[in-house]
Amino acid sequence: MGTELGRLREAVASVREALPADLVPRVGLALGSGLGGFAEHIDVTARVPYERIAGFPVSSVEGHAGRLLFGTLAGVPLVAMDGRVHLYEGYAPANVVAPVRLLGLLGAKAIILTNAAGGVAPALEPGDLMLITDHIATLVPSPLAGPHEPELGPRFPDMSEVYSPRLRALAHDAAREVGVALKEGVYLQMPGPAYETPAEVRMAATLGADAVGMSTAIEAVAAHAMGLEVAGISCITNKAAGLSPAPLSHEEVQAMAARASKDFAALLANLIARLGAPPRAASPS
Ligand code: HPA
Repeated sequence: MGTELGRLREAVASVREALPADLVPRVGLALGSGLGGFAEHIDVTARVPYERIAGFPVSSVEGHAGRLLFGTLAGVPLVAMDGRVHLYEGYAPANVVAPVRLLGLLGAKAIILTNAAGGVAPALEPGDLMLITDHIATLVPSPLAGPHEPELGPRFPDMSEVYSPRLRALAHDAAREVGVALKEGVYLQMPGPAYETPAEVRMAATLGADAVGMSTAIEAVAAHAMGLEVAGISCITNKAAGLSPAPLSHEEVQAMAARASKDFAALLANLIARLGAPPRAASPS
């Protein structure tokens, strides 16, 4: 089959072959730079490397393994993308979002996207966690361009509330319970792989961005278009270019992500447990 949906169906079939038939993930999770350690919190029942998935992109960048992890956390069935592929690796937008769409086609109803990002807003410091309230994706190509596939969403999907208010409220509840500060802001996706120039960071601020990164927004577009509930959390690993005297490096980004990973993991684990809890009964009126 030559269509994107056809390729995704082949991917679903090859993943299903590697899984117990009754394993249906409820929550999808994309682990960003330096957050691969979160896999330790999952009771993993199956690991499926991307290279074993028909038609799947294989990740290359340092620090990103490429595999799906199936398992449970606090009893919630989930599938985690342990590693993702990026536009800056040269992949077409549809390939970049293939793992996210696959998670949806495998049955996930909610997806939590995590990433490392540079802080643009003065209040964001390295080590902070930022809940994404909205994004700017217009500087990167749309993953929805091309022939319309109704099963992947409407031709002109609404994007007025990409990041689910329900999940955002649960993330704040989770942060309070585990005692982790959770800031909020708008994420702007840059094409990368070069970090921004100081002028580009000023542009990002002018456009209304609080943080800049190289992933997530196009994944959120694809996930929201197909009807998934989306949450996004950035680990602010550095002040964006020009806002601190130090030059940026991938090593620094990974080191800061690793330092924040304990808080990040506690927050994620609590949020996932909440996603598995039955909805709170409506209070009597
Ligand atoms: N810019 C873009 N992507 C990033 C940054 C940054 O400053 N930090 C981590 N990922």
